[in-house]
Amino acid sequence: QANLNQLAKAAGKLYFGSATDNGELSDSAYVAVLKNSNEFGQITPGNTQKWQYTEPSNGVFSYTQGDVITSFAQANGQVLRCHNLVWHNQLPSWVSSGSWTAAQLTDILNTHIASEVGHYKGQCYAWDVVNEALNDDGTYRTDVFYNVLGTSYIPIAFKAAAAADPAAKLYYNDYNIEYSGAKATAALGIVKLIQNAGARIDGVGFQGHFIVGGTPSQSALASVLNSFVTLGVEVAYTEVDVRFSSLPATSAGYTQQANDYAAVVGACLAVSKCVGITVWDFDDKYSWIPSTFSGQGEACLYWQNLTAKPAYYKVQSLL
Ligand code: XIL
Repeated sequence: QANLNQLAKAAGKLYFGSATDNGELSDSAYVAVLKNSNEFGQITPGNTQKWQYTEPSNGVFSYTQGDVITSFAQANGQVLRCHNLVWHNQLPSWVSSGSWTAAQLTDILNTHIASEVGHYKGQCYAWDVVNEALNDDGTYRTDVFYNVLGTSYIPIAFKAAAAADPAAKLYYNDYNIEYSGAKATAALGIVKLIQNAGARIDGVGFQGHFIVGGTPSQSALASVLNSFVTLGVEVAYTEVDVRFSSLPATSAGYTQQANDYAAVVGACLAVSKCVGITVWDFDDKYSWIPSTFSGQGEACLYWQNLTAKPAYYKVQSLL
């Protein structure tokens, strides 16, 4: 049986990939799996391109940690999804708690984006330009960007990114937009907002943080992907994991989890403009889930000991 990225490419996708993080790269058993570009043809830095790492104080830029991941991907012939430029979270307090005028915050955004996208110019297949601008009810998150600039911060960010790397695909990325509802509708509105402002948006990223037994069906997922494709953008699943909401997992649970992963992968296969699938790490040892969702976990394709779960084999057979 072939590996996931090989299979995804044979099925017409650009990649099957994984997030990773700096600390994990000293785990040689983990790295042996991650660096196999037949398995994972695409890498997303899980943390170290975020604002808190790249501009920890005003005008002080640091790409040392992000570069470790981008160099790893390049050394192994893996596509990079770069993540992210503008997000309410992991934002240094000098940005979030400043009392900015609109002109000042616009300047801060433009400077941050020009520096970071400029640093990685030519290396990123895609950038997640704006991440998670929406609340679950479809209203805008009232972070510093929205409070000072209203929705205009979004086209400002996309224009700055386009200017700094004309070749990178520019994405809006969010969660709970994978199924129809107020939040997906609002995300369609963000695509139109950017387009109407005369800015370029190339793609929408569907994070895909799902729960075992609570994942939408393949057809429901594909129908939402198609509603975005209709606006002229490509789509991708960018941070997939399917967590058990209570532990320990059961064998019936692993079967359900496999079916849930299959719904996501199947939806991407069913939509030609869905370019690829990224898991938010492939191994339970490094999943973000247990530290964020207390008592939940086992969300990845591989167990902690690096053996593949039923979900892995199901995805492999589907691709
Ligand atoms: C997570 C990382 O995996 C964690 O290590 C970190 O503590 C918090 O952020 N949506 C996103 C990702 O877009 O950047 C988040 O990553 C997970 C949710």
